[in-house]
Amino acid sequence: WSRINEQHYFIPKYISFHLHNVSEMLESILVLQRGLNTDSGSTCREASFEGISRFQVNNTLLHPVIVECRLTKTDMELEVLRYTNRISSEAHKMVMKNVKPGKKEYEMESLFQHYCYTKGGMRHTSYTCICGTGHNSSVLHYGHAGAPNDKTIRDGDMCLFDMGGEYYCYSSDITCSFPANGKFTPDQKVIYEAVLKSSRTVMAAMKPGVKWTEMHRLADKVHLEELVKVGILNGSVEEMMKVHLGSVFMPHGLGHLLGIDVHDVGGYPEGMERINEPGLKSLRMGRLVQERMVLTVEPGIYFINHLLDQALANPTQSCFINNQQLARFRGFGGVRIEDDVAVTATGIELLTCVPRTVEEIEAFMCDSEKSLSPLV
Ligand code: GLY
Ligand code: MN
Ligand code: MN
Repeated sequence: WSRINEQHYFIPKYISFHLHNVSEMLESILVLQRGLNTDSGSTCREASFEGISRFQVNNTLLHPVIVECRLTKTDMELEVLRYTNRISSEAHKMVMKNVKPGKKEYEMESLFQHYCYTKGGMRHTSYTCICGTGHNSSVLHYGHAGAPNDKTIRDGDMCLFDMGGEYYCYSSDITCSFPANGKFTPDQKVIYEAVLKSSRTVMAAMKPGVKWTEMHRLADKVHLEELVKVGILNGSVEEMMKVHLGSVFMPHGLGHLLGIDVHDVGGYPEGMERINEPGLKSLRMGRLVQERMVLTVEPGIYFINHLLDQALANPTQSCFINNQQLARFRGFGGVRIEDDVAVTATGIELLTCVPRTVEEIEAFMCDSEKSLSPLV
């Protein structure tokens, strides 16, 4: 409790009021934390010990207070998150330098972990590394025990590497997408640049007060506009939005709170429900953007056969799809660009620092002068 009271300055006013009341009650009750993590669906259970029955226990007051404390970050927390991002960004760059057709996906996972540990003292990653190449880059949670990054990387594959180091429990969550051979094909370039456009459009619009759900819709809109330019879609983007066509290509949420958990707590406070629409129902935060939040911005475009087939079988969606153009993207996999940002008073601070444009990626991957050895 004393620690929470020392940090009073960053606790919102209504929480301070809560704490004031709580401190009056502290002499007579034992306050323990129990509550639902709205992201994972798991319940955090209160501690117990021998003799607890001698105390009067309250296990409902504390949980919402702790969640609010974790929602926005202190200066010290921001420093740690800058660090996790700096080291993880360097580790991604090292992987980009070492990727080669013929190697295994798990070699890239191993290199990332090695860099984070040797250079950054990061013993753990924030989540199981996702190292999808070729078709696997369209599998959203690839890398799990049933699909353990064990494919051989092939010439012509897109790589989608989603990996983040963890430091003193603080996470990072970064995805780099690039061609395994270092040179984008024309199709890889247009899809990559469509995602980069939505990422940068969202970042430019982000500031305190904007609705995160609107940022998700904005990313969808940019994707649809770009897919029209590619020729995969035809027609009015406004009409496509009405039938949720964006979620066929980006079935996950735009991004989430980041902190002690990679999908940090606080996305949906009591009384706030998820929007029950394709895509938006997977968005892990429904709040307005606030200063000192740390969020991921992670738009993606994926060619997932069963979602494409479902859309083609649905006349309200198939009327916008040019199946002949779409056919050549089957097997392409996917592109995700995931950065971590801290919200400032007027916009954002980008914490992730990796090559992002097509030109930056191609120059970085072919420049052996800048080679980073994992062993030095
Ligand atoms: N790496 C998990 C996520 O992007 O949410
Ligand atoms: Mn990620
Ligand atoms: Mn993420």
